[in-house]
Amino acid sequence: MKDTANYKDYALLSYHHILGVHNLEIFERAGGYQTMKDCFKKDPEAIKEEVKASGLRGRGGAGFPTGVKWGFFSKDRKALKYLLCNADESEPGTFKDRYLVEKNPHILIEGIIISAWALGIQKGYIYIRGEFYQQAVILEHAIKEAYAKGYLGKNILGSGFDFDLYVHRGAGAYICGEETGMISSLEGKKGQPKLKPPFPAIKGYRGLPTMVNNVESLAAVPWIMRHGAAAYKQWGSEKSPGTKLFSISGDVNKPGVIEVPLGTPLKDIIEIHCGGMRSGNKLKAVIPGGSSCPIFTADVANIVTMDYEDVAAKGSMLGSGAIIVMDETRNMGDVLKWTLEFYHHESCGQCTPCREGTGWLESVFKRRDKGQAHKSDIDLLDKTANSMRGQTICALADAAAMPTQGMIKAFREELETYVTTTAKK
Ligand SMILES: Cc1cc2nc3c(=O)[nH]c(=O)nc-3n(C[C@H](O)[C@H](O)[C@H](O)COP(=O)(O)O)c2cc1C
Ligand code: SF4
Repeated sequence: MKDTANYKDYALLSYHHILGVHNLEIFERAGGYQTMKDCFKKDPEAIKEEVKASGLRGRGGAGFPTGVKWGFFSKDRKALKYLLCNADESEPGTFKDRYLVEKNPHILIEGIIISAWALGIQKGYIYIRGEFYQQAVILEHAIKEAYAKGYLGKNILGSGFDFDLYVHRGAGAYICGEETGMISSLEGKKGQPKLKPPFPAIKGYRGLPTMVNNVESLAAVPWIMRHGAAAYKQWGSEKSPGTKLFSISGDVNKPGVIEVPLGTPLKDIIEIHCGGMRSGNKLKAVIPGGSSCPIFTADVANIVTMDYEDVAAKGSMLGSGAIIVMDETRNMGDVLKWTLEFYHHESCGQCTPCREGTGWLESVFKRRDKGQAHKSDIDLLDKTANSMRGQTICALADAAAMPTQGMIKAFREELETYVTTTAKK
């Protein structure tokens, strides 16, 4: 079998074969920034319409259509508004945005400028997680290059449009990836989420309209504007059009980031794009969209196709597209324990069901380490997780509850054995 991905034709990794494409000059020689120049000659409303027609769905996790979200945004081109590019990428298993920024920062900057022009936005921030120091440096250098060329700043290329772009580094909190937590952090406050509505598009950074979009969503905009919505829809399905980046980690021969049309069978991703299972081991389970998504057993993983609808129909979520592959040597008790430690640690503590619930979930595994857990604790996990869902300011509580319940559904017996076996010292 052979890797059939033809990145050169795809929307996001199409420049990745070009050596040094992170430099503006090389990016431009390959056709970069031409779409931005063409877009300045277009009516901003037509750009919004094209993105809406493409059916592009937000790649930050929820999959809400980008063009529809843009449609809720203020049309007053004179009022101060912000664009906030979400490069926090804290969901365990996800590393696609980092890859994109590292390899080709200019595709993101071009996407940001086109989006800002379409939405009449004057100021933009790329909020990048603190651990991505190298990537922040790459972005800052690329932004400097773009200013020097007159692609950022005042009266960009004589268009009369002013747009400034800054990089803001976070301090490593998962919750700052949630858009309202991110806005609080950007304002210099604790990165704690706020109840919605009002949504950031109406009342965001400094109380002003703020469009929050994920790196991958914004980076897809230049391709859509260059080739058109119809061309983008050649890939994927009606409800999940286009291509998507997947970050693949775990027990495969070739982990990494790939771009494939939505709807690609997960089996092909593992067998063809990732070179199959490591050491010829048997597939046991797959988390399809990041640690907050319910796990698939091998039986389901072998038949699911990777688009928003089919993954949901089979009981999980496409999320950020972080595929974590596990072979027969993995213990599902360990997987759930590590997942719950993470969510308890990252809870911002504002909501009782989340602050206490994530602690309760983790405590079963702490008791297990002391030899004090019982088989019935699996029911307690299920009950606790159930009482956390849909009760909180943001979705972090659900992000801990859903994989817990998914794991119980798929691997109850293994969990029962795990909790009643004391951890090795
Ligand atoms: C707990 C939590 C963590 C999140 N982390 C991220 C993240 O790291 N990156 C991201 O783009 N979106 C993240 N989101 C989603 C954002 O709140 C927001 O919906 C997204 O950035 C919007 O961009 P999109 O429409 O392009 O998907 C997170 C949401 C929650 C509830
Ligand atoms: S759900 Fe958890 S992380 Fe989200 S606001 Fe409430 S306490 Fe904070």
